[in-house]
Amino acid sequence: MAREGFGSRFGAIMALAGSAVGLGNIWKFPYEAGSNGGGAFMLVYLFFVFVIGIPVMLSEFVIGRRGQRNPFGSFKTLTPGTRWFWFGGLSIFAAAIILSYYGTVAGWTLEYVAYAIGDTFHGRSSEDIGLLFSDFVSNSYKPLLWQVGFMVLCGIIIMSGVKNGIERCVKTMMPALFVLILLLDIRACTLDGAAEGLKFLFVPDFSKLTFNSVLNALGQSFFSLSLGMGALMTYASYISRNENLTSISVRVVVADTFVSILAGMAILPAVFAFGVDPSAGPNLVYITLPQVFDAMPLGYVWGIVFFVLLTFAALTSAISLLEVCVAYLTEELKFKRLSATALSTGVIAALGVLCTLSFGPMRDFTIFGRTFFDAFDALSSNIVLPVGGIFICLFVGWKMKTMSVYSELSSGGRYPMGMFRIFMFIVKYVAPAAILLILLGAIGIFK
Ligand code: PHE
Repeated sequence: MAREGFGSRFGAIMALAGSAVGLGNIWKFPYEAGSNGGGAFMLVYLFFVFVIGIPVMLSEFVIGRRGQRNPFGSFKTLTPGTRWFWFGGLSIFAAAIILSYYGTVAGWTLEYVAYAIGDTFHGRSSEDIGLLFSDFVSNSYKPLLWQVGFMVLCGIIIMSGVKNGIERCVKTMMPALFVLILLLDIRACTLDGAAEGLKFLFVPDFSKLTFNSVLNALGQSFFSLSLGMGALMTYASYISRNENLTSISVRVVVADTFVSILAGMAILPAVFAFGVDPSAGPNLVYITLPQVFDAMPLGYVWGIVFFVLLTFAALTSAISLLEVCVAYLTEELKFKRLSATALSTGVIAALGVLCTLSFGPMRDFTIFGRTFFDAFDALSSNIVLPVGGIFICLFVGWKMKTMSVYSELSSGGRYPMGMFRIFMFIVKYVAPAAILLILLGAIGIFK
């Protein structure tokens, strides 16, 4: 049977951008920028995205499209008889770990859509809005229902296949997401006092830049672009051989970066206009923003717009993680798509329960001094993604034949690649060395 793939270039780009654009852009980026000195963080972030992000993304594309399988199978096909396929195993593990805690935050977002529709933020003091969040996340069953519900939603999309499930979903949700975020931006940037927020985001103050914020920027670029764990590799295996990988990767990176900046431009001006602290951290979206919406004209509508937008972003990223597991089960272990989806969704939802409960009943249950949620988050973004990125670069830079890499990137010579030498130099030396630096930084070597 012929392998299923994306039906169009637009579908492929929306799927890849859908994976990249997620909670990382709208929930994490504004608060990372907010707590790491604004404009200076942004400049460093942009440098990493374009200098390291694009080459690593292209490397994943090369492996996935040439291998024509899930990450495990692609390494096996490209280097038979070696142990590189272990890296593919790491991908499946990483996808499960990331999705289990991602589902927790996505579940909160669904509850917040319901709050926004029910006008729940209206007339509450800031203390009340804080309590609303802490009572909800520590409740013993409500966040669980939403988290499991979110996973079921992902399962339904994935079960329907690459074209009818993934592609159909991203082709409607991603354009809607762009429109919604632009609307929010227009609203936020026309508030009185918005200029302060824009200045904070765009005028760099290098005195605030520490070595740690540089490392945060590199980690954030990997997480935000979905790099280092095979999600993009899996999607790339569904891209037609006739497409130009370089131009697709540039579009995806630009779209992802653009959404992060737009999210910063929607959130930070509002935060400054209403005089709240930009470095509120992970709570920025769930506690600070509802206060901002409540104080805004037509805040009811903007609240709904924002949380629906966040849900779309989370959903189109989550399905790319689930697809990694499902592609592995169907291609390597010969599962039917339906049973592969049911098994992956079930296992990940069960792991996710541990993450969700770590804000409530399992708050005191820790591994290495962290709750499940924090441990899964730290393990994946600080360790698994950077390690994955190093392996991907080493594989493409040193293990694959340069001719095969070129042939894949140029689609058999159809799209000659002008900067191939620079690409190889980055993949061989610059990226692995830089990533090793984040890794050592994350472990605390430089403290
Ligand atoms: N890029 C996604 C986000 O920004 C998260 C993600 C990471 C998705 C790794 C897939 C793989 O939210």
